Amino acid sequence: MEEHTELSAERALWLLSPRLVVLVTTMNKEGKVNAAPYSFVGPISINPPLCYVSVGKQNKDTEAFAREMKQFVINLVSADFAQKAINCEAKLPRGENELQKFGLHMRASKHVVVPSVKEAPATIECLLNEVIDPKDSDHVLLIGKVLGGTCKFMREPNKPDLDAINPVMHVAKEHFRKVGSRIDLKRNR
Ligand SMILES: Cc1cc2nc3c(=O)[nH]c(=O)nc-3n(C[C@H](O)[C@H](O)[C@H](O)COP(=O)(O)O)c2cc1C
Repeated sequence: MEEHTELSAERALWLLSPRLVVLVTTMNKEGKVNAAPYSFVGPISINPPLCYVSVGKQNKDTEAFAREMKQFVINLVSADFAQKAINCEAKLPRGENELQKFGLHMRASKHVVVPSVKEAPATIECLLNEVIDPKDSDHVLLIGKVLGGTCKFMREPNKPDLDAINPVMHVAKEHFRKVGSRIDLKRNR
């Protein structure tokens, strides 16, 4: 049997991958739209439906804009526009729209005034519930209350088709993956 080799704490953290790559859209009070890729993203609670985006404490536009309008949209990223989505990481002057700069488009959201990304196969519209600053951490958690979502590909009503969504995943640095094949397992419930 293979032996376990020790990892540094930082390396061990990166075992929590791959994670969904998303483009988070936000807006400020002047109506300027911001978009940036994030992958420290996940669900927290079902009732009420809560999720988080973990944002580095470097005065990022996403945190500033989310605090201003108390809303954000999580846009899933598929392979067909993934490079453009990753390009949105660029540090543009605050208020410059990354979507326009990198050839992506906005569409109106249903529940929030913050626009969604037209190219995204699926979106999650959120109200900012609270911002949590974990003790001694270098990231804050934007906690979103999910108001609803959209998906271009459905298996049946209200059931998104994950294979068709084909989301891109982030491993680390410039290492990305697609979602692998399906595996059927029984659960003892
Ligand atoms: C694939 C990918 C995933 C990223 N995930 C995160 C993340 O989870 N948290 C974070 O703070 N920054 C993350 N970043 C870096 C931000 O996108 C980057 O700091 C960006 O400039 C933030 O933009 P903003 O100031 O407009 O919010 C990620 C970048 C890439 C390319």
